[in-house]
Amino acid sequence: MNSSVVPLAADSSSLAPAAQHAELQRALAGLLAGETDLIANAANFAALVYTTLPGLNWAGFYFLRGNELVLGPFQGRPACVRIAMGRGVCGTAAARRVSVLVADVHEFPGHIVCDTASRSELVVPLLDGGRLIGVLDLDSPVPARFTAVDQAGMEAAVRLLLEACQAR
Ligand code: SME
Repeated sequence: MNSSVVPLAADSSSLAPAAQHAELQRALAGLLAGETDLIANAANFAALVYTTLPGLNWAGFYFLRGNELVLGPFQGRPACVRIAMGRGVCGTAAARRVSVLVADVHEFPGHIVCDTASRSELVVPLLDGGRLIGVLDLDSPVPARFTAVDQAGMEAAVRLLLEACQAR
């Protein structure tokens, strides 16, 4: 991270969702500037999202290791470490290589419970060209917390992350 640019973890809960994501992306660009390490950038990404987007109880990453997803940097309660491709919301997003937005996790067949408080979930795949690197997972205790605006915002944020890590 560029040490002269330390984005404040602003409380954006009073902003409209689109403005929350615009603010998040602005802060994220500062956090990622000058750093290419994926683990370091993913850790700061998770911390920024968790402390700025309202209504989350978990935010973090699973990375593809062989044919399964393995827990990466996150904020929230300890979580399951390994998820098979195609299993749960994370494994489904990874296998299909598309974002999965779940309004009620109780209605999602095969949902993997890490925190019983979670009621809705958004998972965005990390794709480097066509290559799957892992997934971003957001959980909320609020039913139907995530919308298409959140999905588009987090897809844009993930692109910023991957671009920063490719920069040489
Ligand atoms: N609920 C996820 C598992 C990961 S935790 O929520 C952090 C799933 O069904 O894939």
